[in-house]
Amino acid sequence: MAHQWRGVIREYASRLPVNESTRVITLGEGGTPLVLAPALSALTGSEVYLKVEGMNPTGSFKDRGMTMAITAAVAAGTEAVVCASTGNTSASAAAYATQAGIKCAVLVPDGKIAMGKLSQAIAHGAELLQVNGNFDNCLDVARKLSENYPVFLVNSVNPARIEGQKTGAFEVVDFLGDAPDYHLLPVGNAGNITAYWKGYREYSEPYESETAGTLPAVSTKRPVMWGFQAAGSAPIVAGHPITEPDTIATAIRIGNPASWAQAEAARDESGGLIDAVTDEEILEAHRWLSSREGVFVEPASAAGVAGLLKYHAAGQVPSGKKIVITVTGHGLKDPQWALRNADGSDVTPTKVDFDVVSVADALGLA
Ligand code: F0G
Repeated sequence: MAHQWRGVIREYASRLPVNESTRVITLGEGGTPLVLAPALSALTGSEVYLKVEGMNPTGSFKDRGMTMAITAAVAAGTEAVVCASTGNTSASAAAYATQAGIKCAVLVPDGKIAMGKLSQAIAHGAELLQVNGNFDNCLDVARKLSENYPVFLVNSVNPARIEGQKTGAFEVVDFLGDAPDYHLLPVGNAGNITAYWKGYREYSEPYESETAGTLPAVSTKRPVMWGFQAAGSAPIVAGHPITEPDTIATAIRIGNPASWAQAEAARDESGGLIDAVTDEEILEAHRWLSSREGVFVEPASAAGVAGLLKYHAAGQVPSGKKIVITVTGHGLKDPQWALRNADGSDVTPTKVDFDVVSVADALGLA
C-alpha cells in the first residue's frame, strides 16, 4: 500500500524534542531522493550519491529545520517569527508560518537574493524588508530584534533548526544501510554541516530518547565531512570574518557564520576539511549536475560537487568509497545561470518556422 511520507518530525519523532501533544507544523518535508550520480561515480571510481534537497516543499533543505522551528514557535505561544536570510530561509519561514497562522518578518540583503526566493517570501505573505547591508548585518539585526521585541528567531542559531536538519543524515544512513565514507556539502552560515554531523554522531551511538527509552546505534561508523565555502566568502578557510563577502552563489554569501565553531568541530572530529571553491568552479559543477546527472540546482548548491571535482583533479578523491553530496536547493530558485554558456555568453535558443522540414533541419535530422 502506498505510504505517504509524514514529514521529518513524525518520521523521526523519537529522536527529536517533541512528544504526542506537540502540534506539528509540517508541509511534508524530508524523504528527499538520494540519487546515484552516474557521471561523478564514473569519474571518481567511487559510488557518488546526491541528496537532492531541492525536492523539499519550498525547494531547499531549510524546510527540515523550519518544521521544527515553527513547531517550537507555536508551542511557545509565539505570534510572530523573524529571520535573516540569503533567500531560502525566508522562503521556508514564510511558508511554514503561513501554515501555522502566525506572522513572519524576513530581513534580506538588498539586491542579493535570487528572484525565485524573493517571490516565495512575498507569495506566502511575509513582511519582507530589504536591508541595506549583507546577510551578516541582517542576522545581527534579527537577533537584536528577537531579544528586544516579541518575535521568535528562526535562524539556525535556534537549536530547533539544527534538530530538524540533522534528519538529513538519518535519511542517508537509513537509505544506504550505514553511514557513507565521505559527506560533502556547501557551507554558508554553517548550520547544515553542524546539523549533519550531529545526525551522524547520534546515529552512531545509543541514543537516549525523551519518549522511547534508549535506542540502539543505527550506523557502525561516521563519514569524513568535507565542507566548501565560496572563495569570495570563505571566512572559515581564511580564519577570520570577511567584512564584504562576495560570490555569485548568493545563498552562501556570508562573511561571519553563526555556527563557525560547530563547523570546525565537525571538520576536526570527522578528520575532514573545509575549503573554498571559486565561482568558476561552482558554475562548472552547476553545469555538470544539470547536463550530466539530470539534477538542476541553484549555484550555491553545487559547491559540494565543485569541491569533489577540485579534489579529484588534485588526485585526492579515493575510489571504491561511498560519497554523499548534499545539493541544497532547487535550480528553479535562481534559473538565470542555466541560460549562460560556459564562456559567459547568453544561450540563444534556435527559432524555427512551424513546419516539419525546418524543425527536422534544425535538429540535424535531414
Ligand atoms: N545552500 C543553500 C541553497 C543555502 O540557501 C544555504 C544557506 C546553504 C547552502 C548553506 O547552508 O548556512 O547551513 O551553511 N542559506 C541561508 C539562507 C543562509 O538564509 O537561506 P548553511
